[in-house]
Amino acid sequence: MTLPFSDRFRSVLTSAQRVVAFTGAGISAESGVPTFRGDDGIWKKMRPEELASMNGFMKNPALVWEWYQYRRTIIGKVQPNAGHRALVAMESVFPSMAIITQNVDNLHRRAGSTLVYELHGNIERNYCITCGATYRDVEVHPRSRSPVCSSCGGLIRPDVVWFGEMLPEDQWEAAVRATESADLFFSIGTSAVVYPAASLPLVGKRAGAFLVEINPEPTPLTDSVDEFLQGLAGMILPAVLEVARQVRRENFA
Ligand code: OAD
Repeated sequence: MTLPFSDRFRSVLTSAQRVVAFTGAGISAESGVPTFRGDDGIWKKMRPEELASMNGFMKNPALVWEWYQYRRTIIGKVQPNAGHRALVAMESVFPSMAIITQNVDNLHRRAGSTLVYELHGNIERNYCITCGATYRDVEVHPRSRSPVCSSCGGLIRPDVVWFGEMLPEDQWEAAVRATESADLFFSIGTSAVVYPAASLPLVGKRAGAFLVEINPEPTPLTDSVDEFLQGLAGMILPAVLEVARQVRRENFA
């Protein structure tokens, strides 16, 4: 695939050292994981206050568990796609490449990315709301309200960030540090509306990064980016990788 990359973007690809890819649900769409806000998006059919909030969990843990086990089943069956794989391969061009993801699906790690900051948690992990003990696999019995902690008997919940909750501090701080030192920042497959994560692209730009957005649709960020690459991440990221390899070969030949 040949894209009309600007000369400035090609030049940044030649010289960039510190590269960040900030990703949202769109990067996993081609794997078959539903996004949140499209016409077919999860939040068009489900109520976030019931399924993704501490209040909702305390009112009806069984419903929340049913929903997360359903999502786990979907995610367990899918594979990383060409977009995830291109980001892994970019580490051979940009060795310190960092992924900052809003996704909980673990697909960046499963693809093989080395440095992944998870701002909204990871659906493969769980923890006890009373003592904090962590669990990977939990069994949800049809008649119980929720899995319970084997050390203290507290309710176990998925290790994902729900509405009204703080982001995991270590992941957020590391993500901000990577963003502030980036010279090239990609915003990929996100509607860029959920804060504080959505603030990162402009934090990067203000700190001097060249800002690239990859999305089939314009977003509230689009007017502020240096390069808008309109299309599917699974098509565009392999093309970016190819051009990055090519311009660096030419430059260092
Ligand atoms: P959204 O569902 O809000 O946005 C997905 C974006 O991906 C949209 O802008 C689509 O146009 C774009 N898109 C769709 N298919 C694509 C593809 N193949 N390639 C590239 N882009 C594509 O998802 P997020 O922005 O990730 O939070 O949503 C942010 C947060 O809202 C989520 O992390 C979740 C949700 O509520 C929590 O659960 C805390």
